[in-house]
Amino acid sequence: MKIIVTGGAGFIGSNFILYVMKAHPEDQIINVDCLTYAGNLENLVSVENEPNYKFAKIDIRDRKAVYQLFEDEKPDVVINFAAESHVDRSIDNPGVFVETNVNGTQVLLDACRKYGIKRYHQVSTDEVYGDLPLDRPDLFFTETTPIHASSPYSASKASADLLVGAYHRTFGVPVTISRCSNNYGPYQFPEKLIPLMIANAENGKELPVYGDGMNVRDWLYVEDHCKAIDLIVREGKVGEIYNIGGHNEMHNIDIVKIILKTLGKSEDLIRFVKDRAGHDLRYAIDPAKIHAELGWLPETMFADGIKKTITWYLDNRSWWENIVSGEYQNYYARMYGNR
Ligand code: NAD
Ligand code: DAU
Repeated sequence: MKIIVTGGAGFIGSNFILYVMKAHPEDQIINVDCLTYAGNLENLVSVENEPNYKFAKIDIRDRKAVYQLFEDEKPDVVINFAAESHVDRSIDNPGVFVETNVNGTQVLLDACRKYGIKRYHQVSTDEVYGDLPLDRPDLFFTETTPIHASSPYSASKASADLLVGAYHRTFGVPVTISRCSNNYGPYQFPEKLIPLMIANAENGKELPVYGDGMNVRDWLYVEDHCKAIDLIVREGKVGEIYNIGGHNEMHNIDIVKIILKTLGKSEDLIRFVKDRAGHDLRYAIDPAKIHAELGWLPETMFADGIKKTITWYLDNRSWWENIVSGEYQNYYARMYGNR
């Protein structure tokens, strides 16, 4: 199979390429990424010279370039990871989220329609369902939970999902959609909770916890997400949505304390700061459908995954130090300066 992976230089996309090239060495991978602040080809040095791997620096909003790529490569499958992915940035500047996440998705769908495709897979998020109350642990997101987005980021992802569904129904594009909970693991950009807290703790900086730290996220090790996507693309039913999650709900404050304990740092570094606007309270995925239909189950327990992740950040200090010493400092000052 020839697979276009968009956003392959980002956190989950690069983990997906590394996984799929090991699991299916017969496949050809074309990594399509325009290398925003979140894209980093360093993640893929171990495969960059493989004959079945290619990188194309293309913006998915660039219709001409995307059509040319389809014409040249005639892909069998497109897996769309490319997105603006950080909620806080979407509150700061929503426009680019609509441009990339909605318009970019539409360009890819048009290309699939024009040139033909065996499968278009949209990597979506549980955030399209909005949030669940903290005092109802019996409630979970299923594939039929209504869309109810809270942030410009989740609204843009929800809009993209609706377009994907419409291109299937109206034009017969063979699509699938997956909606996963929060990922963690190697190569995650240090704007997100876990790597940000590891980097700050290591640098002796305060750990900024939004609100009272009691918001709940449902954490999944990134490789488990990658395996689920791979399975959906190969064995999932066209036109279907699959939720992905491992029933691993945790309060933010507990994650932060685990990180500090593992690093041998003091909890005095924790600082409670002004809450995120529109902050979703709780995410919790019901993964019954993907388990029943495709046999998927998460393999990495949180206790092991978080240790592996912290060890990776300690062993790959230069990877994140390069990031936090550059333009990131302006981002950090803007986001956290007056909080
Ligand atoms: P990321 O921000 O780490 O990576 C995004 C990648 O997309 C980067 O390499 C960036 O350069 C690229 N990109 C951005 N705009 C582009 C454009 N216009 N054209 C081409 N490339 C572009 O994001 P991530 O955390 O790896 O998330 C990947 C996908 O998974 C996203 O669609 C996100 O919504 C979804 N998702 C993420 C999580 C999570 O916990 N991180 C959970 C569920 C779903
Ligand atoms: O649920 C899937 C989503 O998970 C993905 O679709 C998004 O792309 C991904 O970024 C993630 O969104 P969150 O907003 O849940 O992730 P983030 O790491 O930004 O925040 C996790 C929680 O930690 C959230 O409740 C906010 C809180 N937080 C975050 C940061 C960056 C803090 O308390 N302090 C922080 O500095």
